[in-house]
Amino acid sequence: MTTTSLTTTKARAAAPAKIILFGEHFVVYGNPAILASINRRITVTAKRSKDGKVTLRSDIASGEFDGSTFRLIEGTNARATLEPLYYAARQTLSERKEKLGLEIEIKSDIPYGVGLGSSAAALVATVAAVDSLIGKVDRKKICESAVEAEKIIHKNSSGADCFVSTFGGMIYYSKGDGFKKVESKTKLFLVIGDTGIKHNTGDLVSSVRKLKEANQMAFSGLMSQSRDICNQALAALNSGNTDHLGMLMNENQLLLERLGVSHEKADDLIDVARRAGALGAKITGAGGGGAIIALAASKEDSEIIASAIKTIGQGAFEAEIDTKGLVVG
Ligand code: PMV
Repeated sequence: MTTTSLTTTKARAAAPAKIILFGEHFVVYGNPAILASINRRITVTAKRSKDGKVTLRSDIASGEFDGSTFRLIEGTNARATLEPLYYAARQTLSERKEKLGLEIEIKSDIPYGVGLGSSAAALVATVAAVDSLIGKVDRKKICESAVEAEKIIHKNSSGADCFVSTFGGMIYYSKGDGFKKVESKTKLFLVIGDTGIKHNTGDLVSSVRKLKEANQMAFSGLMSQSRDICNQALAALNSGNTDHLGMLMNENQLLLERLGVSHEKADDLIDVARRAGALGAKITGAGGGGAIIALAASKEDSEIIASAIKTIGQGAFEAEIDTKGLVVG
């Protein structure tokens, strides 16, 4: 029997949502992307339990894992939703050479399935909560374990979502060069609009791949435009030129439309945001519905943009860049 060295019986961790400001889809083929964590979080509470089972409860799915047996408590598609979190929790225990039951509770204020990184945030917070039941948490290790578990959901994942959720702030990422922190000279006033249409990242990535294979020349032209937009955006962030940043978001949206990953409802939200005064607006993430982001010139403008989106019956909220990333305790 394994002896436990638990430092506590209950632990809590919270990890933020993310947005992709520039470069989604093109990042899959080696281009840069700029991501940021935002002030919406998933909070996970982990408690030791005596029965050796792992129970996970969230607003969308609840179930109990006993070895390879799953018992549904609530929700549709619950096993598939919870399996990566279960895997992440088990791996964390096994790295600590612990064998115990767990009760895990997940509370989220991140809309899910729309590209705001709720899966990555749930994984980061779950690994951190379980790990901190046993000992001191190392953020780098937490991130690596979360990325490993994320590959169950999206096997070619770059790991960027987990990275930005763990460390917070804004990052410039490319497959070849990895992650670099980006500093914005000014505060960004952002609005997130939710089309309410859940997307499947894997399917959208495949549809872009088909487009690329059918027309290599045109695709490489789009790649070079996207790279250029990302690099200009980095300079605009560094110098605090939000007007230029907004314009670059609009240009990025045109490229995503060329890839066929935008959606009629996302286009409507983008249009409403721009008419309400956004400096720029685009889809964020894989597209096919999902969420849009809009950049406002001020807090006041972001309020106007969010309420304009709500007026057409869609979800919207104001957001700020989160600088904390993962918070334990
Ligand atoms: O799953 P989402 O909506 O956050 O989008 C992922 C971003 C893509 O560039 C489309 C895919 C990827 O792995 O980078």
